[in-house]
Amino acid sequence: MAAIKTVIWAAIGLVLLTTSAIAQIERKPIAPEDLKNIQDSNAKCLECHSEGGFDTLNREGVDKDKLRDHLVDLGVYEGSNHGRVECKACHVKGFEEFPHAADDKKQINWCDECHTRKFLRIEMQFDESVHAKEGIKEKFTCSTCHDPHVFQAAKYMNSPRDVVRQDNDFCLSCHGSDQSFEQVSKEARPDLVENHEWLPNRPLHWNAVRCVECHTPVSKKVMSHEILPAEKAEKRCVACHSADSTLRLRLYKHMVSEERSRVGFVNSMILNEAYVIGATRNVYLDLALGIFAAVVVFIIVLHSILRIIAAWVRSRRNG
Ligand code: HEC
Ligand code: HEC
Ligand code: HEC
Ligand code: HEC
Ligand code: HEC
Ligand code: HEC
Ligand code: HEC
Repeated sequence: MAAIKTVIWAAIGLVLLTTSAIAQIERKPIAPEDLKNIQDSNAKCLECHSEGGFDTLNREGVDKDKLRDHLVDLGVYEGSNHGRVECKACHVKGFEEFPHAADDKKQINWCDECHTRKFLRIEMQFDESVHAKEGIKEKFTCSTCHDPHVFQAAKYMNSPRDVVRQDNDFCLSCHGSDQSFEQVSKEARPDLVENHEWLPNRPLHWNAVRCVECHTPVSKKVMSHEILPAEKAEKRCVACHSADSTLRLRLYKHMVSEERSRVGFVNSMILNEAYVIGATRNVYLDLALGIFAAVVVFIIVLHSILRIIAAWVRSRRNG
């Protein structure tokens, strides 16, 4: 009996492992020598601009007090979507001198200089957003949310939980802090708890779904950047808690399509350790319930047959 159990658990483990492995989209490979060149070039900046470099740095004319606020975390950087881009591709000029020439520091290639096509649509969506108001708009750039040294696109991330954490931090860094909000607007910061009182167990929801799930229109391609105002935001529970959950087009988009091609529609939520009531078809739970139902039916039928036989035997004896 114990041996059979072990085999069953091993099989379930294997299925889970393979399904979670296909959930991640691989990034384009890069030739080792190209990677080496980029890393060598970046090492020249990181000699000062990383924790490790900073600690051992002892160079005349370098203002370490100022530098302390401008360090890049190498591990995070290399894990980000720009981890294989040269610092100098974006920071174009002026790093031969220390301190760097003031004007040159501002010379940065902005997003659209490298990513033209996709980003044009995103800019147009942003223009429709609640943040595109006069007086606020100017204070928003793409890097307000996407720190180019840190950001990872959802499609390259393994766990929906990590996506939720990263993407909600974009919003909460401002909507959760009076200090940051003040720098953008003179209005009072909306009370998030009060505004979402209609949602049961808010902390749990905010660990499991993103603000943008409810505050953007569904979009087939890259997530829409049109942040919707309160009156247009999603309030219907069935938008997520139903068999046709919009989460399949949003948070779980990349995983759902990847999986479908391999193993048919298995719920992606299993990978996420979440069971979304009404939306998740949990195959293991379904299987367990199926087996349970079959066993119950079997016992009832067996019981009936035994009773019929017993009655028949009794009637034979009596007769
Ligand atoms: C010898 C150490 C050193 C090296 C090497 C170095 N930096 Fe700096 N960097 C500094 C210091 C110190 C500051 C802060 C003082 C200042 O602004 O000049 C700074 C500031 C900056 C800033 C501006 C921060 C701000 O907003 O004021 C940027 C951007 C920057 N460095 C990018 C780079 C890049 C890119 C490289 C590599 C090409 C590089 N640095 C190489 C020491 C260095
Ligand atoms: C994809 C473009 C891009 C790449 C690659 C890039 N940066 Fe930046 N960096 C930016 C932008 C944009 C800003 C300005 C952010 C802002 O003002 O919102 C910036 C700001 C900075 C600053 C000043 C702000 C701060 O956080 O202290 C430093 C220092 C810096 N970068 C260092 C680096 C180093 C070192 C590398 C390479 C390891 C690098 N950057 C790679 C785009 C890039
Ligand atoms: C100097 C050119 C350059 C600039 C400027 C730049 N990027 Fe990139 N970006 C790249 C390159 C190159 C890649 C692909 C890196 C790779 O595959 O290793 C990339 C990848 C990305 C990705 C992943 C896209 C995908 O489908 O693989 C996103 C998202 C992204 N960048 C956003 C931004 C944002 C937001 C900004 C502005 C803050 C920005 N980029 C500025 C060069 C740039
Ligand atoms: C208010 C915050 C915010 C601002 C401002 C913002 N974004 Fe985004 N962006 C997000 C969120 C949240 C996502 C969803 C994360 C994901 O799907 O990768 C996202 C996703 C993206 C993606 C999708 C990555 C992919 O290819 O799958 C790109 C590209 C992008 N943003 C570019 C931009 C550009 C360009 C700008 C400036 C015009 C910008 N963003 C401004 C929050 C923001
Ligand atoms: C840099 C700060 C900042 C960031 C980041 C930010 N917001 Fe905002 N947001 C604001 C400000 C300021 C307002 C107030 C605009 C006004 O005065 O009407 C606002 C307004 C809103 C509103 C209310 C619109 C209404 O109905 O009045 C919503 C909803 C909203 N933001 C959602 C988001 C979401 C979702 C994100 C993340 C994707 C986000 N915000 C990121 C600053 C920010
Ligand atoms: C489950 C859907 C859902 C999620 C998740 C969600 N919101 Fe909302 N949000 C709404 C709805 C619906 C309203 C309007 C509530 C009302 O009018 O009673 C709202 C209201 C708001 C408002 C107030 C706008 C005003 O008029 O003052 C802000 C700001 C806001 N949300 C930001 C956020 C941020 C930031 C997050 C993520 C941390 C988030 N929301 C997550 C659905 C959601
Ligand atoms: C944007 C999508 C979305 C919307 C809208 C939404 N939910 Fe959820 N809800 C989720 C997800 C995802 C979970 C799973 C959380 C987990 O298990 O990690 C969840 C979990 C729950 C739970 C389980 C909580 C627990 O304690 O286990 C309840 C109850 C719930 N939601 C009720 C509602 C109700 C009622 C509404 C409408 C007022 C609603 N939800 C709207 C996505 C949503």
